[in-house]
Amino acid sequence: MKIPKSLQPLVDDGLVDGVVTQLKSGKEASVYIVACGDRLRCAKVYKQAQHRGFHKLAEYQEGRKVRGSRDARAMGRRGRHGRELLETQWKSAEVDALYRLAEAGVRVPVPHGVFDGVLLMELVQDADGHTAPQLHEVEMTPAQAREWHTFMIRQIQRMLCAGLIHGDLSEYNVLVDAIGPVIIDLPQAVNASGNNNAFRMLERDVDNMRTTFGRAAPELLETQYAHEIWNLFKTGNLKPDTPLTGHFVHESAEADVNAVMDQIEEARLENEARLRPS
Ligand SMILES: Nc1ncnc2c1ncn2[C@@H]1O[C@H](COP(=O)(O)OP(=O)(O)OP(=O)(O)O)[C@@H](O)[C@H]1O
Ligand SMILES: [Mg+2]
Repeated sequence: MKIPKSLQPLVDDGLVDGVVTQLKSGKEASVYIVACGDRLRCAKVYKQAQHRGFHKLAEYQEGRKVRGSRDARAMGRRGRHGRELLETQWKSAEVDALYRLAEAGVRVPVPHGVFDGVLLMELVQDADGHTAPQLHEVEMTPAQAREWHTFMIRQIQRMLCAGLIHGDLSEYNVLVDAIGPVIIDLPQAVNASGNNNAFRMLERDVDNMRTTFGRAAPELLETQYAHEIWNLFKTGNLKPDTPLTGHFVHESAEADVNAVMDQIEEARLENEARLRPS
């Protein structure tokens, strides 16, 4: 196909030899199959901030490392310099996450770098060499659903051990290749320590996987992995291979409201007595 303007710099630099086809054009990015020598790769072109719904970003960005306090202040002010910094950070966040996760043994596409705001990575393919389907397009037996659910929970556990939470994990952001699930779409990956929304995001990711696989294997809907994983993480006891049960006992002793009210009343009376002129 004709080379899109966004990919021309990569062609000029000899990183890409041709564009085979466009896979997708979404709200956040356009994704292409490109030829690099005799191999096919995947190129993800990020849209500019104004086309992306910038405001929702704050909760993901929290806790990300910024070089120097001056840059941090500029980003907080959202002037032109600050916006450019955020933009660069957004475009490198996904490749950073991919390198970190691949290193930690999480199944993600092998990253090849970001060039002119374009992410080049492995093209995930199925057994026939076609572009891999998204998880929601794949039919599963209950046994397959149970196996992949266990696998995905382990992947989430490994990501957290590497300090990251996906933050947008769903059956649309998991592809299925000849071996099994591959996790994609990580520009919003959240730093697990230093982000106040971390648990909420982890819980949403875990629950999305539960709902997806629970359609084929309903007993999975009873599992409670998010709290279990988070508790181990918070107490420094989470390792990539820590065994999990899927059960979590919530603190069940209810607060004794009456006792608390009695104590408040007692303190109030004491205080009154103290203030009363003797
Ligand atoms: N490495 C890859 N190999 C094969 N297909 C891919 C790859 N990366 C992305 N795709 C395809 O392109 C689609 C969009 O990619 P991705 O989810 O990363 O971008 P996005 O624009 O953020 O998507 P969305 O807004 O739909 O979540 C994926 O669902 C998948 O079908
Ligand atoms: Mg996506």
